[in-house]
Amino acid sequence: MSRFITFEGIDGSGKSTQIKLLADYLSSKGAKVFLTKEPGEGKLGEAIRTMILARRDIEVKPYEELFLFCADRSHHVREVIQPKLEDGYTVISDRYYDSTLAYQGFGRGIPHDFVFDNAKASSLGVEPDITLFLSIPVEQALLRLKNRGRNNRMDEEPLEFHSRVDRGYRELMKRDIERIKEIEATGSPEEIHTEIKRFFE
Ligand code: TMP
Repeated sequence: MSRFITFEGIDGSGKSTQIKLLADYLSSKGAKVFLTKEPGEGKLGEAIRTMILARRDIEVKPYEELFLFCADRSHHVREVIQPKLEDGYTVISDRYYDSTLAYQGFGRGIPHDFVFDNAKASSLGVEPDITLFLSIPVEQALLRLKNRGRNNRMDEEPLEFHSRVDRGYRELMKRDIERIKEIEATGSPEEIHTEIKRFFE
């Protein structure tokens, strides 16, 4: 049975660890699991990721950023997500269109309806079955990023930016309570994993 699961949260919310734990758990229950992420899958995706996040010599303005993330998504859906779902995989993506709504809409302040239309269009009609939003205080997440020392252009944005993104996610959750599940992500990795597992038993 194919299934599309997405993880969302501000930078430093601990998604990677939880994605690995969930992948192991679902595999142990017999699912064929495929892990992927945004941005940066496929050749075009890699180029876009470098442009948006790593190249300091290219100034990327908010609308340019929006369209690059959307281009990355369409490519990702067509090249990776859709084929894997058709093959019966459980696909787990680290970020999907909610990231665009939260970061470019709320974080960058681009009009929300415009971001929504573009982000939705970029998904080519492929909707997540469930989205797990890892909820953690912004200060705690930023501290983790600092300790991790592996920062990209977004990670270096000030606290206010990440707070707007966080507010955005909470707004999105209210609008889509059926799909987006809030996971309290301040505990130990095991505790958080236990909370996530409930949705897959
Ligand atoms: P990460 O791969 O280290 O999580 O970095 C990806 C960054 O890109 C992260 O800060 C969130 C940001 N992002 C957006 O701003 N919009 C998007 O649509 C996506 C997918 C990611």
